[in-house]
Amino acid sequence: MAAEAQAGKEIARGLFLRLPTMEDAERATDFVNALVEEDAMILMDSRAGVSDEARWLEENLQAIALGNKALYFVEEGASGRIVAAFNVSRGRWRRRLAGEFGIAIARGERGKGLGTKLGRIAIREARRMGMRTLHLTVFEGNAPAIALYRKLGFRREGVLRGRVLYKGRLRGELSMSRRV
Ligand SMILES: CC(C)(COP(=O)(O)OP(=O)(O)OC[C@H]1O[C@@H](n2cnc3c(N)ncnc32)[C@H](O)[C@@H]1OP(=O)(O)O)[C@@H](O)C(=O)NCCC(=O)NCCS
Repeated sequence: MAAEAQAGKEIARGLFLRLPTMEDAERATDFVNALVEEDAMILMDSRAGVSDEARWLEENLQAIALGNKALYFVEEGASGRIVAAFNVSRGRWRRRLAGEFGIAIARGERGKGLGTKLGRIAIREARRMGMRTLHLTVFEGNAPAIALYRKLGFRREGVLRGRVLYKGRLRGELSMSRRV
């Protein structure tokens, strides 16, 4: 794990990359609920409670300690708000050399290159964890995310047709991956 991130590295003006702690439950809840309210193109579509998020954090901190996960938050220094999060999760059993990548950025911080920076860090983290490939799925039509992933070297592998319900209709999910 990068020592710089543990201490909180300034990744963009006033924004600090850092590891999560159990103290983050409320902030993480606000972050994810803002994405839900916005109807962002993410899997989750119902609001989380602080206790759900605390449980999620606890599981993730255990997985980090076991070397099965990298999870980072970006905090806005002035407000203490979480404005971005990304993770790399090790697959289980025969997928143990395959990582799964996820990222989300709060509305006001998009389109400024933060996704690119965090994605590059995620690839480095995947390498550090010994992953050989990195995978993700993204809703068809999520143009900013697909552009980011292509820029990061992910290539489209196929479509999981009709897999998600978004704005009242079924959409496909693109499966993308790259070598690490
Ligand atoms: C997807 C997401 C992480 C991208 O992060 P970001 O910080 O906006 O990305 P960047 O600013 O680094 O942009 C990366 C590339 O995406 C493209 N891009 C950015 N915003 C775009 C937009 N609104 N429309 C189309 N392409 C866009 C550009 O090609 C850009 O590269 P360039 O600046 O070299 O041209 C962010 O939009 C987000 O969190 N969205 C909501 C949650 C989500 O959809 N998560 C992904 C689920 S799979």
